[in-house]
Amino acid sequence: MSIAASYLEFATREAPGVSPAYERLALAVSRDDEVLALLGTLPPSKRQPNLLFGVVRLLGGPVEDPAAFHDYAVANWPAIAAEMRSRATQTNEAGRCAVLLPVLAALPQPLAMLEVGASAGLCLYPDRYAYRYGDHQVGSGAPVLECAATGMAPPTRLPEVVWRAGLDLNPLDVTDPADVAWLDALIWPEHTHRRARLRAAAAVAAADPPVLMRGDLVDDLPALVARAPAGATLVVFHTSVLYQVPAPRRRAFAEVVRGLPGHWIANESPDVLPHDALPQPPGEAFFNVLALDGTPLAWTRGHGQAIDWFA
Ligand SMILES: C[S@@+](CC[C@H](N)C(=O)[O-])C[C@H]1O[C@@H](n2cnc3c(N)ncnc32)[C@H](O)[C@@H]1O
Repeated sequence: MSIAASYLEFATREAPGVSPAYERLALAVSRDDEVLALLGTLPPSKRQPNLLFGVVRLLGGPVEDPAAFHDYAVANWPAIAAEMRSRATQTNEAGRCAVLLPVLAALPQPLAMLEVGASAGLCLYPDRYAYRYGDHQVGSGAPVLECAATGMAPPTRLPEVVWRAGLDLNPLDVTDPADVAWLDALIWPEHTHRRARLRAAAAVAAADPPVLMRGDLVDDLPALVARAPAGATLVVFHTSVLYQVPAPRRRAFAEVVRGLPGHWIANESPDVLPHDALPQPPGEAFFNVLALDGTPLAWTRGHGQAIDWFA
């Protein structure tokens, strides 16, 4: 896919109804030959809208007005390019726990949770957050993760987690203000509720930091699995990770994870983790598929804001 096409796809599939500012910006970039040429000087893995927009936000540049964005990007390209080369999109969205919870709560307890592509590990605390599915609340405290659920009865209990560990090529540290600033910059401009959620979830994680190991999801997963305690249900899970992994490595990962003990929960785009038979998605927007041990169960929205159960 060309750079222009990827920005157009972001503008038409990912941003609509979620971020008007990024929808405008991505559409403008898809038609902006000067910025497209600058992006073309970066390695293919460093050209995505989320990375560009997040870096400009981190540097204090404008992301509301496409003309101001263009001028800022052209004038500050060396600084923007340097940040884009050294950083990765590592959005850590605790809200995704709301789509994991129905599966986690139904597994034999207690759980030993191992997240692949954990970023700062905020999805490793599904037992510490509160949830609201319509009128139905589970858990107490903050953050409260709101999720529109259809086709399912909302979960009635939190999981019991006795071990939590994460694996990431570049683990972020929720106790480091610079890492939290990057996580903040990755949140889309209008999403003040997600910014508040990041702060609340980071406080939960910082109070009891997870084991986060630097490593690759194929090469280093078995060694981390070996550290999981006996007597708990091992859950290897990942959300919004595989789009960052080359296709042959995705296949190698699926093979490794299928050979592991315990359960495997995937919350990924069907473009990167295909399933044999899927119903029509509930809309035009971007959806992930929630799957347990390779069986698809539900369509989910990217930040955990909705789940449509079809299994
Ligand atoms: C978009 S973030 C998602 C973070 C988290 N799963 C969530 O849903 O909030 C994807 C994460 O996957 C990590 N990642 C990408 N490729 C990886 C690999 N080959 N092995 C381990 N982690 C990887 C990235 O560093 C990044 O932190």
